[in-house]
Amino acid sequence: MFGSMFSGKYLFNSYTFILVAIIAVFTMSLNVLRVKAPAKVTGTVIILHGLGDSADGWKFLSDMLHQYDQFKGVNFIFPNAPIKPLTVAGGQRVAQWFDIFEMGNPNARQDEEGYWNSVANISKLIDEESKNGVNPSKIIVGGFSQGASISLGIAASYHQKLAGILCLSGFFNMKQGIQSRLKDVNKQTPIFHGHGDLDPVINISMARAAHKLFTDNLGFTNYDLHEYSGMAHSTCNEEISEIADFIAKNLGL
Ligand SMILES: *[C@@H]1O[C@H](CO)[C@@H](O)[C@H](O)[C@H]1NC(C)=O
Ligand SMILES: *[C@@H]1O[C@H](CO)[C@@H](O)[C@H](O)[C@H]1NC(C)=O
Repeated sequence: MFGSMFSGKYLFNSYTFILVAIIAVFTMSLNVLRVKAPAKVTGTVIILHGLGDSADGWKFLSDMLHQYDQFKGVNFIFPNAPIKPLTVAGGQRVAQWFDIFEMGNPNARQDEEGYWNSVANISKLIDEESKNGVNPSKIIVGGFSQGASISLGIAASYHQKLAGILCLSGFFNMKQGIQSRLKDVNKQTPIFHGHGDLDPVINISMARAAHKLFTDNLGFTNYDLHEYSGMAHSTCNEEISEIADFIAKNLGL
């Protein structure tokens, strides 16, 4: 009796172990919201949300664009950032692509490790989409704020030519790790950087600094900064319409 109880318990424990292991594998892989193209696929747009937001925060873009025939062949992928303690928020758990040690100070210590891990995770996501049949030259990677910052890391380090980069209210502070990861393949890739001149979170001067770094120092030849007057850390109709034009033009729609 005791023996069978014991083996029963043992069995339960090993199943629990397997279950925990499966959950761990799921938590390690990127959690994404996929919105499939309602028509024959012509390309993919990946959008990374900002700090404390989630994939749902940008789903309006696919809802809006899929209403038009021109965009019906576009797959959208909205990845969710991992939820981790955020240092500037006193260790509160916040969805983030990398940690922040000091707000608004580009010269402060930066979470380079977390940043480049997220860039690597998004690179794997692009590799997967490519294995699913969408050539990277038909993939646009973009994001808002922290997500925009990650998209610039993708422009710098991804190993294949992409269709374009959408850097929305973004910045770039990861100057330690960039040189060793820099590749030439996306140096002519169109980069759209939209930024509000009244942005109180990521000052417009940080947008200009990222533009200057990428064009003057890193050799990117197709990086356009669009400044929107009166816009804060947000988006506006004019920007959304320019984003739609950028997607159409660079996916050849
Ligand atoms: C990103 O990659 C790192 C390192 O490989 C991993 O620890 C982390 O869980 C990943 N995050 C997500 C959301 O996949
Ligand atoms: C951006 O920085 C400049 C220079 O420090 C400052 O004058 C301006 O008020 C800042 N803009 C916002 C919206 O905070």
